[in-house]
Amino acid sequence: MKKSNILPASELVRQREYIARMRAENDRFFAESGVRRRAYVLTFGCQQNEADSEKLSGLSIAMGYELTGAPEDADLIVVNTCAIREHAEQKALSIVGQYKHLKAKKPSLVICVAGCMVAQEHRRNDIKFRYPYVDFIFGTASLHRFPELLVEKLATGKRLYCPEETEYLVAEEQPIYRESDYRAWVSVMYGCNNFCSYCIVPYVRGRERSREKEEIVKEVRELVLRGYRDITLLGQNVNSYAKDAAFGYDFADLLSELDAIEGDFLLRFMTSHPKDASRKLIDVMASSRHIAHQFHLPVQSGSDRILGLMNRRYDVARYLDIVDYMREKMPDVTLTSDIIVGFPGETEEDFEGTISILERVRFDMLYSFIYSPRKGTPAAEMEQVPADVKSARFERLLTVQNAIGLEKNQALLGKPMRVLCDGESKKNANLYSARTEGNKIAFFEGVPEDTGKFVNFVADRADAFALYGKKIQ
Ligand code: SAH
Ligand code: SF4
Ligand code: F3S
Repeated sequence: MKKSNILPASELVRQREYIARMRAENDRFFAESGVRRRAYVLTFGCQQNEADSEKLSGLSIAMGYELTGAPEDADLIVVNTCAIREHAEQKALSIVGQYKHLKAKKPSLVICVAGCMVAQEHRRNDIKFRYPYVDFIFGTASLHRFPELLVEKLATGKRLYCPEETEYLVAEEQPIYRESDYRAWVSVMYGCNNFCSYCIVPYVRGRERSREKEEIVKEVRELVLRGYRDITLLGQNVNSYAKDAAFGYDFADLLSELDAIEGDFLLRFMTSHPKDASRKLIDVMASSRHIAHQFHLPVQSGSDRILGLMNRRYDVARYLDIVDYMREKMPDVTLTSDIIVGFPGETEEDFEGTISILERVRFDMLYSFIYSPRKGTPAAEMEQVPADVKSARFERLLTVQNAIGLEKNQALLGKPMRVLCDGESKKNANLYSARTEGNKIAFFEGVPEDTGKFVNFVADRADAFALYGKKIQ
């Protein structure tokens, strides 16, 4: 029989005992002092990390902490880190560096560093030797052990390091504190098996493991009942959902089942890998009631030679074939992608290939990145492109894409659409921001009651990144 990928119930029970112990201690403190101890959770990285942080916050609340948005008020600080590019790691390390002063002012402050960055041995050593005031660290495989580590730390006063993580399992029934009461993340699988040659994720998040369909359906149904309007299914490669477990169904089957749930909500998913994006999936989307006509399909490069070196296992022709099929079935689909500029060995000709795929596909939006070598990945050992060449190509890519993005957005002017309002915009004073079905940002003059609701909207102005307009009946 196949080994189960589920964390044993006995381990969850064990962690619940630590939660109860911590809760009793924090309640006692509250009874004596009249103040609740506070936890501050800071997140770097992708939606998976955001979802993990909602669990870390949920666990903190279960342990009797109140959440705070201010690190200087906190008794417990959790930094949930990312390792995808050098910049992400440097940002996290610099923030952790700043917390030294907080600890000096309040020696009882507990600081822990979690997530992808500290799933790497060399970064664990960095924290160990260069940040001695960090109390404990745990990688993504040990997230469920957060209560145990906290209790142990407080009981012994010793710094703690989770041992190197080898067993990555699915932990169900974790408390989740959701940041929003109308948008939600739902992880459908964890980890990645693809080993793209530039990418650190498979090394820090372990092999693919899928949640059972029944668990996901239950979670989504409860969210819809609680009034959630926009639900995003998460996984590094959702198209290989369930392949690890041989459940007898696939991602398209999961989507069909979720689409059958009654209610007024939108379903999205990310990320899809072009090698596994199937026609069946596109057919399910096209005929669905709830699945947003929005697809994020990272292409990474428009050169077959570079795609080969990246170990992506598709070529430009295969990518264009999926895009064409998608546009045939859903002419209104919003299509976005990821591009890496300056992958080792990328020539001018390879880069021209990337520019031409942009011009051929005309993405609505692009997330573009300058290649960043990741220790331990094959691409880090290949011959690197000089930094000035990388940044010149990056600038050119942005110029090409900005013109395309603007034209794509201008094509939506005057067309009524339904958007989900996120409340007052932080960027544009006096305006409310919202997301279209295609997940584009829309701004309009709103009222507080619009927040969390679907609003009818029409755009009269656009730039490359957003639509501006008004509410309509
Ligand atoms: N699982 C998803 C995305 C994972 S990371 C996928 O396969 O598409 C998000 C994006 O970060 C990637 O799509 C890639 O474009 C970028 N990325 C990953 N590693 C990188 C690196 N070493 N340097 C620069 N960008 C990187
Ligand atoms: Fe990284 Fe590739 Fe996995 Fe995406 S599919 S997480 S880019 S290894
Ligand atoms: Fe970063 Fe980990 Fe996500 S490396 S991008 S937080 S999976």
